[in-house]
Amino acid sequence: MATLAADNVPAFDPVAEEAVDESLASAARREGPWDYYRQLRERAPVYYSRSRGMWFLTGYRAVESILKSSAALLEFEKRMDTVRPDWRDHPSNANVAPFIAFVDGEAHQKIRKPFSPKFTPKEMERFRPAIRAIAEEHVDRYIEAGGGRFADLVAFPFAERVLCHLFAFDKTKLPNARDLVHRMQIGFELDATPEQLADADEASREYRTFWQGEFAQRVGDWSGNDMFSDLLRDDSFTREEIGLIAESIFSGGFDSTALTMTTGAWLLASHPEEIDRARNDPEAMARIPEEVLRMGSGIPMTIRVSTRPIEIEGYLLPTDSVIGVVLAGANRDPAIFADPERFDLTRAPYRVMSFSYGAHACLGQWTARIEIFEIFRALISRSKSIRLVGDPIFRDRQSVRGVEDVVLAVT
Ligand code: HEM
Repeated sequence: MATLAADNVPAFDPVAEEAVDESLASAARREGPWDYYRQLRERAPVYYSRSRGMWFLTGYRAVESILKSSAALLEFEKRMDTVRPDWRDHPSNANVAPFIAFVDGEAHQKIRKPFSPKFTPKEMERFRPAIRAIAEEHVDRYIEAGGGRFADLVAFPFAERVLCHLFAFDKTKLPNARDLVHRMQIGFELDATPEQLADADEASREYRTFWQGEFAQRVGDWSGNDMFSDLLRDDSFTREEIGLIAESIFSGGFDSTALTMTTGAWLLASHPEEIDRARNDPEAMARIPEEVLRMGSGIPMTIRVSTRPIEIEGYLLPTDSVIGVVLAGANRDPAIFADPERFDLTRAPYRVMSFSYGAHACLGQWTARIEIFEIFRALISRSKSIRLVGDPIFRDRQSVRGVEDVVLAVT
């Protein structure tokens, strides 16, 4: 194999630069950055943006390859130094540094190891009957009311209940979880205003205080048959560490799922022919989670940093490159997904990138798949008609995106 020169970077391309900027701008955040990711992928699926000082990977193979590479790590401090140099002054940024999703190597393994066996597809299947019952309860109430705001009435309360069920956590202890998570997330928006950052910081402090207090109070009460009690019985974790784990799982676990389900409700209601297909064909019904995840791409991009030079598709990414890994771009790569803009429940199964891949692949992906399937199985099989009312409200965020809420008429 020929050796690549260290200066082998893609040529400056004003159209690609604009596509990067536009993909992060407000209109694209709301309705979707798809056109810009498509432009970027078509011009340069591996691109170095001079204005952002970052690489952007938008092709499926490039994304898969970086996520598999042992040389591409989270390197939280380095990436934050690039995107927000004063991040240490902001609790909404600094508080997440020890989270499972942002640590590498042994520190990551230490947290991931006890959880991995509990989140396998087989283990999650044990929860399916309970998840189905919770889904049916929410959907029956929704149908009885004739529909309404799907996120408020179904997706959020359902996703929160499921997570609380998995962790035997009493939701009434933290009634404003949705609001806090929502506000904290803004701290990760690249163009957050000082006021938004201050509010995100405030929410982060409150969230931290709650979870640290929760485990401090649970001293001596370790007899439960739930995941947190297991950790409390495990000598290798301090109570402070368990609080951090709970904080990270609860901040990542229900908002992304509820948002994806709401995006799914909008996609389905906008494609009545696909609802009919799912009603009549169990295979089409079973494909709803993957197709909703692919089209929705709720977390459009993750970031990695190279710890040594990495070759991708003929380019050499030098050590310490900050790499935007565009999961949403991979999910609509026509080389993998034919006619990628079409919502299609007959699509042949292929791994979507919505949960990322490799060492940090989403721990809760099988939980989320079951939740998405069960909510739409209940909605479609227990209703006669599902109709879109008006336009959806899109979340105006770049870090976690999708339909914030949508009104359906259901009978
Ligand atoms: C549709 C819903 C969801 C989506 C789209 C989603 C997406 C993601 C993505 C993209 C990552 C990896 C980011 C990276 O590679 O840097 C991730 C990680 C993670 N997710 Fe999810 N997630 C969802 C639901 C859940 C649920 C339900 C849970 C918990 C029950 C969960 C817990 C986690 C955890 C703990 C990690 C960190 C894993 C690690 O770093 O080892 N997620 N998620």
